Amino acid sequence: MAKTKVGIVGCGNISGIYFKNLHTVFDNVTVACCADLDQDRARAKAGEYEGVRVVSLDEMLADPEVAIVVNLTTPQGHYAVARQAVDAGKSVHNEKPLTLTRDEGRALLDAAAANGVRVGTAPDTFMGGGIQTCRKLIDDGAIGTPIGAQAFMLCHGHESWHPDPEFYYKAGGGPMFDMGPYYLTALVSLLGPAKRVTGSARISFPERTITSEKKRGTTIEVDVPTHVTGVMDFANGAVGTIVTSFDVWAASTPCIEIFGSEGTLSVPDPNSFGGKVRLRRPGDDGWQEIALTHGNAENARGVGVADMASAIETGTSHRASGDLGYHVLDIMHAFHDASGEGRHIELASTCERPEPMPPLA
Ligand SMILES: NC(=O)c1ccc[n+]([C@@H]2O[C@H](COP(=O)([O-])OP(=O)(O)OC[C@H]3O[C@@H](n4cnc5c(N)ncnc54)[C@H](O)[C@@H]3O)[C@@H](O)[C@H]2O)c1
Repeated sequence: MAKTKVGIVGCGNISGIYFKNLHTVFDNVTVACCADLDQDRARAKAGEYEGVRVVSLDEMLADPEVAIVVNLTTPQGHYAVARQAVDAGKSVHNEKPLTLTRDEGRALLDAAAANGVRVGTAPDTFMGGGIQTCRKLIDDGAIGTPIGAQAFMLCHGHESWHPDPEFYYKAGGGPMFDMGPYYLTALVSLLGPAKRVTGSARISFPERTITSEKKRGTTIEVDVPTHVTGVMDFANGAVGTIVTSFDVWAASTPCIEIFGSEGTLSVPDPNSFGGKVRLRRPGDDGWQEIALTHGNAENARGVGVADMASAIETGTSHRASGDLGYHVLDIMHAFHDASGEGRHIELASTCERPEPMPPLA
């Protein structure tokens, strides 16, 4: 079968793994071309792989061979680039978050529906072996009826390692918009959509100093909350909490735990594809480690793009969908809105639980 040709826009930090996986690992897709505002970056990435052309975004969108645009620009560019792509009749897969605002997200999904093209969004880590094994355990009743969930992403920000960390502290950044998508997408995949949320958020350090090289010593003015706590009522009745922070020096909290009427499931880091899945049921002496039942347990970034390509071929739904990304975006905004307004927020959005991945044979 002919491979689906994709074009990559944004050849920065995260692009390397997408180039590798989409060009050399997944067998139904190939990278035809790439673009970046900084042409040197595009040339550097294209130079690593055979047959990848460096083009402008306009050239990419005019190329009839390109079926899916993979948008790896910084969050501030997600809507504009994706909208141009869907208006040009291309399907698009955005890095997370889907867009900065709900209005942009809605407009993007509506434009794609009107043009008969698809929108997908990162993260696709929930399609990896770790979360999929947890999904199967929950669906098979291993913890009984889900009661609650807790999720933690606590660190001290990205200015110590990322060469251009400013965007993490500007609109669309902050720990919830940056890292929340991994945790919330995993929770929605495991428990289904949320229906009501509340939250509290603060800025602990109004100014941050870059300590990574190139910009060492430069200060960043912080525009967005950097310690954000959310509470979620899921449609299935479970109650979840999430804390995301760029303000914490050390913590010993788990990534995600799901509590059920018949036991507790310890979910691996949702910013990875594999990891340890652990289960503890009444009467157990300790945690049992459960062998992964699903593949894609290594860094499979881009599996959501490959899944979209095969779903286009077969006319089925792709898993890392725009609807899922929009619901996660809505939840993240609602935490911040609830904090500002001091109330619970009934969510206007919902989504289907994405189909589970097939287990290993
Ligand atoms: N760095 C990571 O570890 C990581 C991990 C997962 C996801 N992400 C997500 O991936 C995205 C990119 O992050 P990054 O760390 O690679 O950022 P980056 O700053 O290293 O790279 C972004 C690239 O996009 C280019 N760009 C920006 N706007 C553009 C436009 N309109 N047209 C063409 N090119 C444009 C920039 O020139 C830059 O080369 C973000 O949404 C981020 O949340 C990053």
